[in-house]
Amino acid sequence: MSANLCTDTFPRLPDAQTRLLGVIGHPVSHSLSPAIHNPALAMLGLNMRYLAFPVHPDRLPQAVRGFAAMGMLGFNATVPHKEALVPLMDWLEPLAQRIGAVNTVLIDEQGRLHGYNTDAPGFVDALLERHPLSLRQCNVVLLGAGGAARGVVAGLLEAGCQRITVANRTVARAAQLIADLASHYPTAALHAAPMQEAALPLERCDLLINTTLLGLHDQEPFPLSLHALPAQALVCDIVYAPAETPLLRAARQRGLATLNGLGMLLHQASRAFTLWTGQKMPLDFVRQRLLDML
Ligand SMILES: NC(=O)c1ccc[n+]([C@@H]2O[C@H](COP(=O)([O-])OP(=O)(O)OC[C@H]3O[C@@H](n4cnc5c(N)ncnc54)[C@H](OP(=O)(O)O)[C@@H]3O)[C@@H](O)[C@H]2O)c1
Repeated sequence: MSANLCTDTFPRLPDAQTRLLGVIGHPVSHSLSPAIHNPALAMLGLNMRYLAFPVHPDRLPQAVRGFAAMGMLGFNATVPHKEALVPLMDWLEPLAQRIGAVNTVLIDEQGRLHGYNTDAPGFVDALLERHPLSLRQCNVVLLGAGGAARGVVAGLLEAGCQRITVANRTVARAAQLIADLASHYPTAALHAAPMQEAALPLERCDLLINTTLLGLHDQEPFPLSLHALPAQALVCDIVYAPAETPLLRAARQRGLATLNGLGMLLHQASRAFTLWTGQKMPLDFVRQRLLDML
């Protein structure tokens, strides 16, 4: 597919004006970001290319300085670099500062690094695209307190959500997440809880979101019963491969609406794309290509 991209999809080969974009991670070879951005760049006739760079955590500062020195236009970051990028930025958008994680960097003409977090609004974009909820009224139960959970909770709070219970295997991590965000959203009711049914307000939950690694690698039944959820509850998993995780399967079997992580992946990419190019990503085209690939 990568060979075809250059000759079949891009109108021309890279030349001396081609601008470079990319994603850094460790590892990074699993990343779908090149398969999202390159077709979009090609479709819009933009003379840019998006590559994946395996960057060891020990060499992150050198890599970032090198990108700026080379005149790269910008880059995305995936695990484990999102938090470590924060102190390396020359400017941080307030949301990225609150979350303490950067997933998108724009490099300006002077080589200054501007850090953003598009994961947070990307989740909300994906949610509202499919399910026009009034987030202000929603009772949310969110499972997990890792890097992705931080982004999703912040995105929901930015969008006006007022009631979120963050449940995690390690409760102290959920409490820390809340402590870090609470002062920025003083009207919101935020609670930390262990990941056990009895501790969660499932009977009042409108939106259940899984951000843990459960279901990513195995197909064991999800260790939390959905039995108490109201019939109109929406169940989300931010994992996109497999498309139907054990949690989403259990929700579907209970007749509940579901949403997987593909939309979040696409929308965080779409926001980054606009920051770099000033143009809208052709979302439907990219989504279809991705679905064909997966
Ligand atoms: N769709 C998207 O665009 C998108 C974007 C970002 C991430 N993701 C996905 O989100 C997931 C989480 O990523 P992350 O960066 O937040 O990871 P992370 O920082 O490592 O956090 C992992 C979370 O999973 C929990 N966990 C791990 N194993 C568990 C188990 N056996 N039982 C219960 N809880 C367990 C951890 O709990 P403890 O704190 O107790 O260890 C923690 O809350 C990944 O699957 C990633 O692919 C998707």
